[in-house]
Amino acid sequence: MSDFDHRPVMMAEVLDALRLKPGGRYADGTLGGAGHAAALLSVSSPTGWVYGCDRDGDAVEAAHARLAEFAGRFEIRRGNFAELSEWIPTGSCDGVLLDLGVSSPQLDVAGRGFSFQHNGPLDMRMDTRQPLTAAQLLNAAGAEELAKIFWEYGDERESRRFAKAIVHDREQRPFETTRQLAELIERLSPRRGRKAHPATRVFQALRIAVNDEIGSLGRGLDGALKILKPGGRLAVITFHSLEDRVVKNFGRARARDYTFAGTDVPELRVPRAPELRIVNRKAITPGEAELAENPRSRSAQLRVMEKL
Ligand SMILES: C[S@@+](CC[C@H](N)C(=O)[O-])C[C@H]1O[C@@H](n2cnc3c(N)ncnc32)[C@H](O)[C@@H]1O
Repeated sequence: MSDFDHRPVMMAEVLDALRLKPGGRYADGTLGGAGHAAALLSVSSPTGWVYGCDRDGDAVEAAHARLAEFAGRFEIRRGNFAELSEWIPTGSCDGVLLDLGVSSPQLDVAGRGFSFQHNGPLDMRMDTRQPLTAAQLLNAAGAEELAKIFWEYGDERESRRFAKAIVHDREQRPFETTRQLAELIERLSPRRGRKAHPATRVFQALRIAVNDEIGSLGRGLDGALKILKPGGRLAVITFHSLEDRVVKNFGRARARDYTFAGTDVPELRVPRAPELRIVNRKAITPGEAELAENPRSRSAQLRVMEKL
């Protein structure tokens, strides 16, 4: 039994969204502990198939262990879901799932450096084969660039002040640990009874930047649409508003019966066939029971689209 412990969110909603059927072919771009993937294989028994990937080597190992009982019915690769369409045949899948963000083990293992709640190296790489770590980014980027990261990826109102202080402090001592960064932010922005830790947004922003999460998401959505069959469903679970906006805008743009000729000037609309249909206008969120049982599900939002 693997000790990779991640509780999949909105399981019933995902299975419903993908309209699973026996013998169906599915892709899971974010295997994690393979809770969702195991359900995809189970419900599509006896001949259903899952293509799966994750950037995280520990997740890939855990997924292999978890899915062993379905041997011969899946293919797993370690890699970025941005590249799904490079190895999964075009138009081959009945459903694609992207359950974004981090897994519980990534947050809970101090050595991965994702969390201000555990002291560890400032790493934050989902794929540890990648050279750039959070420490390297924090110690090398200019104040302007850091402020932009905190603002755009974390909605951090104090982005400039935090960035300046980081650039000042790192001259004395480069940033190496999560505690060093968390303590600096706490010093600049004392908690004063607030629910969220003052470093929450800075940590989220750094993580998104280190892993190029927004760039990957854009490419992943394009690729997902390519590998779907007409009538196939794309289900995406996001955990913060920036990601959700990217997914929502992708759906809207591809559902239109026109595109823009390179600019947003309305007269320059070029007609074309819509590529997808938005299944749920409003994002689906976890029910009361799940929220009570799994607090990490509280920010999850599910959007579902169908390829035309
Ligand atoms: C919320 S967890 C997925 C949990 C999974 N659905 C389950 O049932 O256990 C998110 C996973 O996505 C992976 N991930 C995030 N961005 C990725 C990307 N661009 N390409 C591949 N994997 C990614 C993370 O490494 C993490 O393991």
